[in-house]
Amino acid sequence: MKNIVILISGSGSNMAAIVQAAQADHWDKRLDARISAVISNRPNALGLAFAKSQGIATAVVEHTAFATERQPREAFDAALMTTIDTYQPYLVVLAGFMRILTPGFVAHYAGRLVNIHPSLLPAFTGLHTHERALQAGCQFAGATVHRVTTELDHGEILAQAVVPVLAGDTAETLAERVLAQEHVMYPRVVAQLLTRG
Ligand code: GAR
Repeated sequence: MKNIVILISGSGSNMAAIVQAAQADHWDKRLDARISAVISNRPNALGLAFAKSQGIATAVVEHTAFATERQPREAFDAALMTTIDTYQPYLVVLAGFMRILTPGFVAHYAGRLVNIHPSLLPAFTGLHTHERALQAGCQFAGATVHRVTTELDHGEILAQAVVPVLAGDTAETLAERVLAQEHVMYPRVVAQLLTRG
């Protein structure tokens, strides 16, 4: 059985979309895969309750607990890796996981670590992507699923979803339109990775 571990920081709607796709499409039987755990760096992440309600194991590794250490990022990532590896993941899926990962973490999961980013990469890496797309006068926006490398929001592009920017759009309305497409795209890409590797 291929184990999928999903990392979240907030509402977890992409994680929920993947979980629902796995249920609806019977990934356990068709792809020999299951969502084994949902892990958050924030104890109050809304998505944790959803995961629990679906009978999925959850864990919290709080990044704030490492704030006093000399190398907090490395220490946090080491703790996170220990928790993730309990589930022997075939794939680690970042779904709104708002932490920059260390090279050691990325290397440890090389080839099995993917992320979704709310822009048409390579445009608008980093934060506030929708505001920046609107400010730049873009006529199209979207989201990208990519493999994770040590460079933030870079790495092989696996899929992109494109939406139009409409007159009167705010960052919120645009984010909503993009997010709806993320929910379609991300489960599809994960399913493809489970079949093709
Ligand atoms: C999504 O739009 C995702 O693309 C974005 O955060 C949102 C999470 O929503 N990710 C990033 O910005 C990563 N840098 P969700 O928690 O409801 O899935």
